[in-house]
Amino acid sequence: MYNSKITGLGFYVPEHIVTNDDLSKLMDTDDEWIQERTGIKQRHWIPEGSEDTSAVMGAKAAKIAIERAGLTKDDIDFIVFATLSPDYYFPGCGVQIQDMLDMPTIGAIDVRNQCSGFIYALSTADQFIKTGMYKNVLVIGAEYHSNGLDKSTRGRGVSVIFGDGAGACVLSQTEDNTKGILSSHLHSQGKHADKLIVASPSIKHWVPEILASKEEDISYFPYMDGTFVFKNAVVRFSEVIMEGLNTNKINPDDIDLFIPHQANLRISQFIQKKFGWRNDQVYNNIMEYGNTTAASIVIALTEAWEKGKVKEDDIVVLAAFGSGFTWGSVIIRW
Ligand code: UT7
Repeated sequence: MYNSKITGLGFYVPEHIVTNDDLSKLMDTDDEWIQERTGIKQRHWIPEGSEDTSAVMGAKAAKIAIERAGLTKDDIDFIVFATLSPDYYFPGCGVQIQDMLDMPTIGAIDVRNQCSGFIYALSTADQFIKTGMYKNVLVIGAEYHSNGLDKSTRGRGVSVIFGDGAGACVLSQTEDNTKGILSSHLHSQGKHADKLIVASPSIKHWVPEILASKEEDISYFPYMDGTFVFKNAVVRFSEVIMEGLNTNKINPDDIDLFIPHQANLRISQFIQKKFGWRNDQVYNNIMEYGNTTAASIVIALTEAWEKGKVKEDDIVVLAAFGSGFTWGSVIIRW
């Protein structure tokens, strides 16, 4: 068995910033409500006319990660792409990355695990490296939310939360079995699928039926039972972090950095308080980017690393919860 460690990180967000005040011109909302309930001050949205998509942003982030790993695109053995907002119904974004980066005909898979997408993708890549099948795996999380949101007052409970962006890392084989990904823990509970969902178009409710409804059918917009999701999130986050720490016999006090999926600053603060972590032990950036779903953890990890907050030998805890429900954690010794 081999160990895997992150050797390169990168992220990309569109330049175009949308503030809470900008949103209040589109719908009945205000900066105070959004900041108080979510912590979000602004998000980046792909502007009209831009060529950015989930795959295009993913490719931009991936190029940075590969370069920082000291590798070239020809050194990558496999691609894992996490997104809930793929460019196409099919094929997935992973194969687009293979083409956009002009890579050899390596394998590529898409992971469909929404907010937990990056955790699932990282864990998937880790398994390929642990078995010795691959040496360098490119892991990408990217989301193009803004084009699919209901930007009227009707959709304000969901639309103010989400932002566009992409992050990527290179996971590489290492001989040092004391470092890298120590463990990953993945869970799901499909009975709550309808609590956070984009229900259509689905193969059982295809486009002509939606069009025939003469705009009454809005099942192609994201729906969230926010309170229910929030309550489940705080419980599952805590459980899966504890599961990871217990597996590795790590005391919560001994972690160096916790990077939660950026769903809501209140959720992150609840978890921080529960574990008694200081501010310097937790990294949040939802204030600047909103919730970028599968991209959020890897964007935050990249930013934290760029700011020198992730150092050799640090214990880094990543955790996520979201639609599915799915949730998971990854424990890393850097
Ligand atoms: O990333 C995947 C996982 N996602 C999460 O973990 C998100 C979990 N849930 C949440 O973060 C929160 O539930 C939200 C931020 C989505 C909503 O916050 P909340 O405190 O649960 O608010 P609420 O949905 O209970 O709505 C409270 C009020 C309602 O008005 P009434 O019925 O009390 O008159 C809403 O209509 O706030 C109203 N409201 C808004 N007002 C201004 C909802 N959205 C907005 C808005 N601006 N954008």
